[in-house]
Amino acid sequence: MSEYLLAGQDTELERLRLQSTVWEPAGRRLLDLIGDGRGRRALDVGCGCLGWLRLLSAWTGELGAVLGSDIDKQMLERAAGQVEEDGLVNVRLMVDDLFASGLERRGFDLIHARFMIAPLGRAEEQLTSHLALLAPGGTLVLEEPDCASWRFNAPAPAAERLIALISDAFLAAGGDFNAGRALPTLLHDRGLTPRVRTEVLALDPGHPYLRLPLQFATALRPRLLLLTDADSLDTLIADTERELADPERWGTTFTLVQSWARVGGRPD
Ligand SMILES: C[S@@+](CC[C@H](N)C(=O)[O-])C[C@H]1O[C@@H](n2cnc3c(N)ncnc32)[C@H](O)[C@@H]1O
Repeated sequence: MSEYLLAGQDTELERLRLQSTVWEPAGRRLLDLIGDGRGRRALDVGCGCLGWLRLLSAWTGELGAVLGSDIDKQMLERAAGQVEEDGLVNVRLMVDDLFASGLERRGFDLIHARFMIAPLGRAEEQLTSHLALLAPGGTLVLEEPDCASWRFNAPAPAAERLIALISDAFLAAGGDFNAGRALPTLLHDRGLTPRVRTEVLALDPGHPYLRLPLQFATALRPRLLLLTDADSLDTLIADTERELADPERWGTTFTLVQSWARVGGRPD
């Protein structure tokens, strides 16, 4: 797939900011396992408008350095605002296409990439790019979703049908919303010794992240209309809206699969 599935929309920027905030505690738990990051050089590939920038800034500390890269200037402008607002003095941002990267070879002690394989569907090329930029002994961290746990209670059949349609749209565009489950194998096939952990969050009634299927339906509308007609899609969206407006309905997120490995063989 040559272009990013969800590029260039305000709703997408908002979605990514919310998503980054929701998953920050999960990222912090993983960095705690990886160990002391003080003084390290970290790269967040495809950081979007926030990604792991706050986490990596704290992890590497004042002697460390964080670079956030993205192909989309608009995303990085948003990220720059956040970096300034949070006073992240050790964070720099740079436009870079990960598939033709101009970043320093072997220049990073930790590389993180989240939700990149799912929309782009170029896992092997992506891995090759990350491995070229990692310093010997460095750590590669990948995070991707798996749909299995993305549910509502009481069940919300329209929302679940919308999720299935979104998942089909990812596949039709060359991506895979269930990319998470393949991560350990991907790393293992490069001779690495991967570790894996997963996180599923409970979302209370009214939590804004419950609306993720609706946000995707807006961002992906042209793609969804390749799979269904406008009337059916609008009915599905309206039914999902109604289901999610129920003040008692809570949900669970998709599963965040985190897999990481140290280059050079030994697990962290
Ligand atoms: C689903 S978003 C994930 C953003 C961020 N990693 C996060 O988890 O919040 C995918 C990001 O990849 C960026 N992207 C797409 N193609 C890229 C490429 N070839 N090189 C670098 N970034 C790219 C997009 O601009 C977007 O910000």
